[in-house]
Amino acid sequence: MTVSSLMNTYGIAATTLVKGQGCWLWDDSGSKYLDALSGIAVCGLGHSHLGIATAVAKQAEILTHCSNFFGIPNQQNLADKLRDISGMTNVFFGNSGAEANEAAIKMARLHGHKKGIKLPTVIVMDNAFHGRTLATLTASGSRKIQAGFEPLVRGFVRGPYNDIQALEIIGDNNADICAVLVEPIQGEGGIRVPDADYLQKLRTLCDQRGWLLMLDEVQTGNGRTGKYFCYQHSGILPDIVTTSKGLGNGVPIGACLASGDAAQLMQPGNHGSTFGGNPLSCAAGLATVNTIIDDGLEQRAAALGDRIMHGLRDALAGVDHVKEIRGMGCMIGIELDKPCKSLFATAMKHGLIINVTADSVIRLLPPLVMTDHEADQLVDILAPLIRDFKQD
Ligand SMILES: Cc1ncc(COP(=O)(O)O)c(C=O)c1O
Repeated sequence: MTVSSLMNTYGIAATTLVKGQGCWLWDDSGSKYLDALSGIAVCGLGHSHLGIATAVAKQAEILTHCSNFFGIPNQQNLADKLRDISGMTNVFFGNSGAEANEAAIKMARLHGHKKGIKLPTVIVMDNAFHGRTLATLTASGSRKIQAGFEPLVRGFVRGPYNDIQALEIIGDNNADICAVLVEPIQGEGGIRVPDADYLQKLRTLCDQRGWLLMLDEVQTGNGRTGKYFCYQHSGILPDIVTTSKGLGNGVPIGACLASGDAAQLMQPGNHGSTFGGNPLSCAAGLATVNTIIDDGLEQRAAALGDRIMHGLRDALAGVDHVKEIRGMGCMIGIELDKPCKSLFATAMKHGLIINVTADSVIRLLPPLVMTDHEADQLVDILAPLIRDFKQD
Protein backbone atom coordinates (compact mmCIF):
# COMPACT_ATOMS: atom_id res chain seq x y z
CA MET A 1 0.00 0.00 0.00
CA THR A 2 1.35 3.44 -0.87
CA VAL A 3 1.61 5.96 1.94
CA SER A 4 -0.37 9.11 1.21
CA SER A 5 1.49 12.38 0.87
CA LEU A 6 -1.57 14.19 2.25
CA MET A 7 -1.66 15.25 5.87
CA ASN A 8 -4.00 12.97 7.76
CA THR A 9 -6.68 15.59 8.56
CA TYR A 10 -9.64 13.78 7.01
CA GLY A 11 -8.72 10.11 7.39
CA ILE A 12 -8.65 7.89 4.34
CA ALA A 13 -11.55 8.41 1.92
CA ALA A 14 -13.23 5.22 0.73
CA THR A 15 -14.56 6.86 -2.44
CA THR A 16 -12.92 9.13 -5.00
CA LEU A 17 -15.27 11.43 -6.88
CA VAL A 18 -14.25 12.53 -10.35
CA LYS A 19 -17.28 14.09 -12.02
CA GLY A 20 -20.47 15.96 -11.19
CA GLN A 21 -23.52 17.09 -13.14
CA GLY A 22 -26.57 18.69 -11.56
CA CYS A 23 -27.46 16.68 -8.44
CA TRP A 24 -25.36 13.67 -9.46
CA LEU A 25 -21.75 12.66 -8.78
CA TRP A 26 -19.64 9.87 -10.27
CA ASP A 27 -16.73 8.01 -8.70
CA ASP A 28 -13.57 6.74 -10.40
CA SER A 29 -15.15 3.36 -11.12
CA GLY A 30 -18.16 4.93 -12.85
CA SER A 31 -20.69 4.47 -10.01
CA LYS A 32 -23.27 7.25 -9.75
CA TYR A 33 -24.55 8.95 -6.58
CA LEU A 34 -27.48 11.27 -5.85
CA ASP A 35 -26.00 14.20 -3.95
CA ALA A 36 -27.98 15.23 -0.86
CA LEU A 37 -25.03 17.10 0.67
CA SER A 38 -23.86 19.62 -2.00
CA GLY A 39 -20.23 19.44 -0.80
CA ILE A 40 -21.55 20.51 2.66
CA ALA A 41 -23.98 23.25 1.60
CA VAL A 42 -21.69 24.62 -1.12
CA CYS A 43 -23.02 23.59 -4.55
CA GLY A 44 -26.53 25.01 -4.24
CA LEU A 45 -26.80 25.26 -8.02
CA GLY A 46 -25.64 21.67 -8.43
CA HIS A 47 -22.43 20.51 -10.07
CA SER A 48 -20.86 21.78 -13.30
CA HIS A 49 -23.45 24.55 -13.60
CA LEU A 50 -23.01 26.00 -17.09
CA GLY A 51 -23.56 29.64 -16.04
CA ILE A 52 -20.94 29.43 -13.29
CA ALA A 53 -18.48 27.46 -15.43
CA THR A 54 -18.82 30.05 -18.20
CA ALA A 55 -18.39 33.01 -15.83
CA VAL A 56 -15.27 31.45 -14.27
CA ALA A 57 -13.74 30.48 -17.63
CA LYS A 58 -14.39 33.94 -19.10
CA GLN A 59 -12.88 35.71 -16.09
CA ALA A 60 -9.84 33.39 -16.08
CA GLU A 61 -9.17 34.45 -19.67
CA ILE A 62 -9.41 38.16 -18.81
CA LEU A 63 -7.86 38.58 -15.33
CA THR A 64 -7.57 36.01 -12.55
CA HIS A 65 -5.89 38.06 -9.84
CA CYS A 66 -4.41 41.50 -9.32
CA SER A 67 -4.43 42.18 -5.49
CA ASN A 68 -6.58 44.55 -3.48
CA PHE A 69 -4.18 47.42 -4.26
CA PHE A 70 -6.46 47.90 -7.26
CA GLY A 71 -10.14 48.30 -7.97
CA ILE A 72 -11.85 45.06 -9.00
CA PRO A 73 -15.10 45.61 -10.93
CA ASN A 74 -16.73 42.31 -10.01
CA GLN A 75 -15.80 42.73 -6.34
CA GLN A 76 -17.71 46.02 -6.36
CA ASN A 77 -20.58 44.47 -8.35
CA LEU A 78 -20.87 41.53 -5.96
CA ALA A 79 -20.75 43.81 -2.92
CA ASP A 80 -23.51 45.99 -4.44
CA LYS A 81 -25.62 42.92 -5.15
CA LEU A 82 -25.19 41.51 -1.63
CA ARG A 83 -25.96 44.93 -0.15
CA ASP A 84 -29.18 45.19 -2.17
CA ILE A 85 -30.28 41.67 -1.21
CA SER A 86 -29.39 41.86 2.46
CA GLY A 87 -30.10 45.40 3.63
CA MET A 88 -26.53 45.54 4.96
CA THR A 89 -24.29 48.37 3.75
CA ASN A 90 -20.65 47.24 3.40
CA VAL A 91 -18.87 43.99 2.55
CA PHE A 92 -15.40 42.52 3.16
CA PHE A 93 -14.42 39.48 1.07
CA GLY A 94 -12.26 36.60 2.25
CA ASN A 95 -11.89 33.02 1.10
CA SER A 96 -13.80 30.86 3.57
CA GLY A 97 -16.35 30.77 6.37
CA ALA A 98 -13.74 30.82 9.10
CA GLU A 99 -12.13 33.90 7.59
CA ALA A 100 -15.47 35.68 7.33
CA ASN A 101 -16.00 34.95 11.03
CA GLU A 102 -12.46 36.11 11.90
CA ALA A 103 -13.33 39.45 10.32
CA ALA A 104 -16.53 39.60 12.40
CA ILE A 105 -14.67 38.79 15.62
CA LYS A 106 -12.07 41.47 14.87
CA MET A 107 -14.88 43.97 14.30
CA ALA A 108 -16.47 43.00 17.63
CA ARG A 109 -13.15 43.80 19.31
CA LEU A 110 -12.90 47.16 17.55
CA HIS A 111 -16.45 47.88 18.73
CA GLY A 112 -15.57 46.88 22.31
CA HIS A 113 -12.41 48.99 22.42
CA LYS A 114 -14.36 51.94 21.04
CA LYS A 115 -16.65 51.59 24.04
CA GLY A 116 -13.64 51.54 26.41
CA ILE A 117 -13.76 47.80 27.13
CA LYS A 118 -10.24 46.43 27.77
CA LEU A 119 -11.03 42.76 27.17
CA PRO A 120 -13.86 42.81 24.62
CA THR A 121 -15.75 39.54 24.98
CA VAL A 122 -18.08 37.81 22.53
CA ILE A 123 -20.90 35.51 23.66
CA VAL A 124 -20.89 32.26 21.67
CA MET A 125 -23.17 29.24 21.94
CA ASP A 126 -23.08 25.64 23.09
CA ASN A 127 -22.75 23.31 20.07
CA ALA A 128 -21.84 26.21 17.76
CA PHE A 129 -19.51 25.76 14.80
CA HIS A 130 -17.66 28.74 13.39
CA GLY A 131 -14.52 27.25 11.80
CA ARG A 132 -11.06 25.84 12.48
CA THR A 133 -8.80 28.87 12.85
CA LEU A 134 -7.70 29.54 16.42
CA ALA A 135 -10.30 32.22 17.12
CA THR A 136 -13.14 30.39 15.36
CA LEU A 137 -12.37 27.02 16.97
CA THR A 138 -12.39 28.81 20.31
CA ALA A 139 -15.79 30.27 19.39
CA SER A 140 -17.04 26.81 18.39
CA GLY A 141 -18.79 24.82 21.11
CA SER A 142 -17.11 21.45 20.74
CA ARG A 143 -14.22 20.19 22.85
CA LYS A 144 -13.36 17.72 20.08
CA ILE A 145 -12.51 20.63 17.78
CA GLN A 146 -10.51 22.49 20.44
CA ALA A 147 -8.63 19.63 22.12
CA GLY A 148 -4.89 19.76 21.55
CA PHE A 149 -4.87 23.34 20.32
CA GLU A 150 -4.68 25.10 23.67
CA PRO A 151 -4.01 27.85 24.60
CA LEU A 152 -7.33 28.96 23.20
CA VAL A 153 -8.06 32.58 22.36
CA ARG A 154 -9.29 34.92 25.10
CA GLY A 155 -12.39 37.04 24.81
CA PHE A 156 -15.21 34.49 24.49
CA VAL A 157 -17.88 33.30 26.93
CA ARG A 158 -20.35 30.55 26.17
CA GLY A 159 -24.09 30.38 26.71
CA PRO A 160 -26.88 27.96 25.83
CA TYR A 161 -28.45 28.23 22.35
CA ASN A 162 -32.05 29.45 22.05
CA ASP A 163 -32.08 30.84 25.62
CA ILE A 164 -32.34 34.64 25.86
CA GLN A 165 -32.62 34.70 29.65
CA ALA A 166 -29.26 32.94 30.00
CA LEU A 167 -27.62 35.63 27.85
CA GLU A 168 -29.21 38.37 29.97
CA ILE A 169 -27.65 36.79 33.07
CA ILE A 170 -24.25 36.52 31.35
CA GLY A 171 -24.51 40.20 30.43
CA ASP A 172 -25.53 41.19 33.97
CA ASN A 173 -22.37 39.54 35.29
CA ASN A 174 -19.86 40.56 32.63
CA ALA A 175 -19.35 44.19 31.64
CA ASP A 176 -16.85 43.14 28.95
CA ILE A 177 -19.47 41.69 26.59
CA CYS A 178 -19.50 43.56 23.28
CA ALA A 179 -21.18 41.15 20.85
CA VAL A 180 -23.11 37.93 20.31
CA LEU A 181 -22.03 35.50 17.57
CA VAL A 182 -24.71 32.96 16.65
CA GLU A 183 -25.91 30.70 13.83
CA PRO A 184 -29.60 31.31 12.92
CA ILE A 185 -29.86 27.51 12.64
CA GLN A 186 -27.03 25.39 14.04
CA GLY A 187 -25.71 23.23 11.21
CA GLU A 188 -22.79 21.10 12.43
CA GLY A 189 -24.44 21.14 15.86
CA GLY A 190 -27.28 18.98 14.51
CA ILE A 191 -29.69 21.18 12.47
CA ARG A 192 -31.00 22.88 15.61
CA VAL A 193 -33.77 25.33 14.72
CA PRO A 194 -34.41 27.92 17.46
CA ASP A 195 -37.79 29.44 18.39
CA ALA A 196 -39.31 31.56 15.61
CA ASP A 197 -38.82 34.76 17.64
CA TYR A 198 -35.25 33.99 18.78
CA LEU A 199 -33.49 36.43 16.43
CA GLN A 200 -36.00 39.19 17.21
CA LYS A 201 -35.37 38.72 20.93
CA LEU A 202 -31.62 38.66 20.34
CA ARG A 203 -31.90 41.89 18.34
CA THR A 204 -33.76 43.57 21.22
CA LEU A 205 -31.26 42.32 23.79
CA CYS A 206 -28.27 43.50 21.73
CA ASP A 207 -29.89 46.92 21.22
CA GLN A 208 -30.56 47.28 24.94
CA ARG A 209 -26.96 46.39 25.87
CA GLY A 210 -25.04 48.02 23.01
CA TRP A 211 -23.81 44.63 21.76
CA LEU A 212 -23.25 43.78 18.10
CA LEU A 213 -25.56 41.07 16.79
CA MET A 214 -23.32 38.93 14.56
CA LEU A 215 -24.97 36.13 12.58
CA ASP A 216 -22.96 33.28 11.12
CA GLU A 217 -24.81 32.45 7.88
CA VAL A 218 -21.93 30.49 6.40
CA GLN A 219 -24.23 27.45 6.11
CA THR A 220 -27.72 29.01 6.26
CA GLY A 221 -27.04 31.77 3.70
CA ASN A 222 -27.37 31.97 -0.09
CA GLY A 223 -30.94 30.79 -0.36
CA ARG A 224 -30.64 27.52 1.54
CA THR A 225 -33.38 28.09 4.14
CA GLY A 226 -35.95 29.67 1.78
CA LYS A 227 -34.79 33.30 2.00
CA TYR A 228 -31.47 34.63 0.74
CA PHE A 229 -30.32 34.97 4.37
CA CYS A 230 -32.02 33.08 7.17
CA TYR A 231 -32.44 36.25 9.30
CA GLN A 232 -34.81 37.55 6.61
CA HIS A 233 -37.46 35.14 7.96
CA SER A 234 -37.40 37.22 11.18
CA GLY A 235 -37.64 40.74 9.76
CA ILE A 236 -34.58 41.92 11.70
CA LEU A 237 -31.27 43.34 10.52
CA PRO A 238 -28.07 42.12 12.20
CA ASP A 239 -25.05 44.39 12.69
CA ILE A 240 -22.81 41.82 11.04
CA VAL A 241 -23.53 38.74 8.95
CA THR A 242 -20.99 36.30 7.59
CA THR A 243 -21.39 33.89 4.71
CA SER A 244 -19.35 31.59 2.46
CA LYS A 245 -20.10 28.01 1.28
CA GLY A 246 -22.96 28.55 -1.23
CA LEU A 247 -21.72 32.00 -2.25
CA GLY A 248 -19.36 30.72 -4.98
CA ASN A 249 -20.97 27.34 -5.78
CA GLY A 250 -17.60 25.66 -5.18
CA VAL A 251 -15.18 28.48 -5.93
CA PRO A 252 -13.72 29.56 -2.55
CA ILE A 253 -15.13 32.88 -1.34
CA GLY A 254 -16.36 34.25 1.99
CA ALA A 255 -17.97 37.54 2.94
CA CYS A 256 -18.47 39.59 6.07
CA LEU A 257 -21.30 42.11 5.70
CA ALA A 258 -21.96 44.95 8.13
CA SER A 259 -24.59 47.63 8.63
CA GLY A 260 -24.92 50.86 10.61
CA ASP A 261 -22.03 51.87 12.90
CA ALA A 262 -20.52 48.40 12.59
CA ALA A 263 -19.91 49.06 8.89
CA GLN A 264 -17.54 51.91 9.79
CA LEU A 265 -15.36 49.93 12.23
CA MET A 266 -12.76 48.66 9.74
CA GLN A 267 -10.36 51.29 8.46
CA PRO A 268 -7.37 51.00 6.07
CA GLY A 269 -4.69 48.82 7.63
CA ASN A 270 -7.05 46.97 10.02
CA HIS A 271 -7.68 43.92 7.90
CA GLY A 272 -7.00 42.33 4.52
CA SER A 273 -6.49 39.22 2.44
CA THR A 274 -4.30 38.52 -0.59
CA PHE A 275 -6.89 36.43 -2.40
CA GLY A 276 -10.06 37.75 -0.79
CA GLY A 277 -12.42 39.26 -3.37
CA ASN A 278 -10.17 38.56 -6.34
CA PRO A 279 -11.56 38.80 -9.87
CA LEU A 280 -11.98 35.03 -10.29
CA SER A 281 -13.84 34.29 -7.04
CA CYS A 282 -16.04 37.38 -7.43
CA ALA A 283 -16.98 36.37 -10.99
CA ALA A 284 -18.12 33.03 -9.55
CA GLY A 285 -19.87 34.76 -6.64
CA LEU A 286 -21.69 37.22 -8.86
CA ALA A 287 -22.85 34.51 -11.27
CA THR A 288 -24.00 32.38 -8.31
CA VAL A 289 -25.94 35.13 -6.55
CA ASN A 290 -27.56 36.29 -9.81
CA THR A 291 -28.63 32.72 -10.59
CA ILE A 292 -30.08 32.17 -7.10
CA ILE A 293 -32.15 35.36 -7.42
CA ASP A 294 -33.07 35.14 -11.13
CA ASP A 295 -34.08 31.46 -10.93
CA GLY A 296 -36.07 31.94 -7.70
CA LEU A 297 -33.98 29.33 -5.91
CA GLU A 298 -34.85 30.58 -2.41
CA GLN A 299 -38.51 29.72 -3.08
CA ARG A 300 -37.41 26.46 -4.68
CA ALA A 301 -35.37 25.61 -1.56
CA ALA A 302 -38.45 26.13 0.63
CA ALA A 303 -40.71 23.96 -1.56
CA LEU A 304 -38.07 21.26 -1.99
CA GLY A 305 -37.33 21.12 1.73
CA ASP A 306 -41.04 20.78 2.52
CA ARG A 307 -41.40 17.98 0.00
CA ILE A 308 -38.42 16.05 1.40
CA MET A 309 -39.48 16.56 5.03
CA HIS A 310 -43.08 15.51 4.33
CA GLY A 311 -41.85 12.48 2.40
CA LEU A 312 -39.57 11.43 5.23
CA ARG A 313 -42.22 12.04 7.90
CA ASP A 314 -44.72 9.88 5.99
CA ALA A 315 -42.22 7.13 5.30
CA LEU A 316 -40.82 7.07 8.84
CA ALA A 317 -44.05 7.53 10.82
CA GLY A 318 -44.08 5.20 13.83
CA VAL A 319 -40.38 4.28 13.57
CA ASP A 320 -39.36 4.29 17.24
CA HIS A 321 -35.69 5.21 16.85
CA VAL A 322 -36.50 8.38 14.84
CA LYS A 323 -36.69 11.14 17.47
CA GLU A 324 -37.37 14.13 15.22
CA ILE A 325 -37.34 15.31 11.61
CA ARG A 326 -36.69 19.04 11.52
CA GLY A 327 -35.23 21.84 9.45
CA MET A 328 -35.94 24.78 7.21
CA GLY A 329 -35.77 24.74 3.42
CA CYS A 330 -32.89 22.60 2.18
CA MET A 331 -31.33 22.23 5.62
CA ILE A 332 -32.84 19.08 7.11
CA GLY A 333 -31.96 16.95 10.13
CA ILE A 334 -33.29 13.52 11.07
CA GLU A 335 -32.35 12.83 14.68
CA LEU A 336 -32.14 9.21 15.81
CA ASP A 337 -32.01 8.01 19.40
CA LYS A 338 -28.55 6.45 18.83
CA PRO A 339 -25.27 7.19 17.03
CA CYS A 340 -25.59 6.48 13.31
CA LYS A 341 -22.32 7.51 11.61
CA SER A 342 -22.26 4.23 9.65
CA LEU A 343 -25.35 5.37 7.72
CA PHE A 344 -23.03 7.50 5.56
CA ALA A 345 -21.31 4.39 4.16
CA THR A 346 -24.61 2.48 3.91
CA ALA A 347 -26.17 5.31 1.90
CA MET A 348 -23.11 5.43 -0.40
CA LYS A 349 -23.61 1.72 -1.14
CA HIS A 350 -27.16 2.63 -2.20
CA GLY A 351 -26.01 5.49 -4.44
CA LEU A 352 -26.84 8.37 -2.09
CA ILE A 353 -24.58 10.97 -0.43
CA ILE A 354 -25.69 12.17 3.01
CA ASN A 355 -23.89 13.29 6.15
CA VAL A 356 -24.19 12.45 9.85
CA THR A 357 -23.43 15.23 12.33
CA ALA A 358 -23.57 15.53 16.12
CA ASP A 359 -23.25 11.68 16.21
CA SER A 360 -26.95 10.93 15.75
CA VAL A 361 -28.36 13.49 13.29
CA ILE A 362 -28.59 12.62 9.59
CA ARG A 363 -28.02 15.92 7.80
CA LEU A 364 -29.39 16.66 4.33
CA LEU A 365 -28.17 19.73 2.43
CA PRO A 366 -29.33 19.00 -1.12
CA PRO A 367 -28.68 21.30 -4.08
CA LEU A 368 -31.46 23.91 -4.36
CA VAL A 369 -31.97 22.85 -7.99
CA MET A 370 -33.00 19.27 -7.16
CA THR A 371 -36.09 18.19 -9.12
CA ASP A 372 -39.21 16.79 -7.45
CA HIS A 373 -38.39 13.40 -8.97
CA GLU A 374 -34.87 13.47 -7.52
CA ALA A 375 -36.24 14.57 -4.14
CA ASP A 376 -38.61 11.58 -4.17
CA GLN A 377 -35.71 9.29 -5.15
CA LEU A 378 -33.77 10.68 -2.16
CA VAL A 379 -36.64 9.81 0.19
CA ASP A 380 -37.18 6.40 -1.42
CA ILE A 381 -33.50 5.46 -0.94
CA LEU A 382 -32.99 6.98 2.51
CA ALA A 383 -36.18 6.14 4.42
CA PRO A 384 -35.76 2.32 4.31
CA LEU A 385 -32.09 2.67 5.38
CA ILE A 386 -33.17 4.69 8.42
CA ARG A 387 -36.11 2.37 9.16
CA ASP A 388 -33.87 -0.72 9.08
CA PHE A 389 -30.95 0.91 10.92
CA LYS A 390 -29.94 -1.08 14.00
CA GLN A 391 -26.79 0.50 15.44
CA ASP A 392 -23.28 1.68 14.55
C1 LIG B 1 -21.89 27.85 10.44
C2 LIG B 1 -20.50 27.67 9.94
N1 LIG B 1 -19.58 28.62 10.18
C3 LIG B 1 -18.32 28.52 9.74
C4 LIG B 1 -17.89 27.41 9.05
C5 LIG B 1 -16.46 27.30 8.59
O1 LIG B 1 -16.40 27.47 7.23
P1 LIG B 1 -15.05 27.10 6.44
O2 LIG B 1 -14.89 25.62 6.54
O3 LIG B 1 -15.30 27.57 5.04
O4 LIG B 1 -13.94 27.84 7.10
C6 LIG B 1 -18.81 26.37 8.78
C7 LIG B 1 -18.39 25.17 8.06
O5 LIG B 1 -18.98 24.14 8.12
C8 LIG B 1 -20.15 26.52 9.24
O6 LIG B 1 -21.06 25.57 9.01
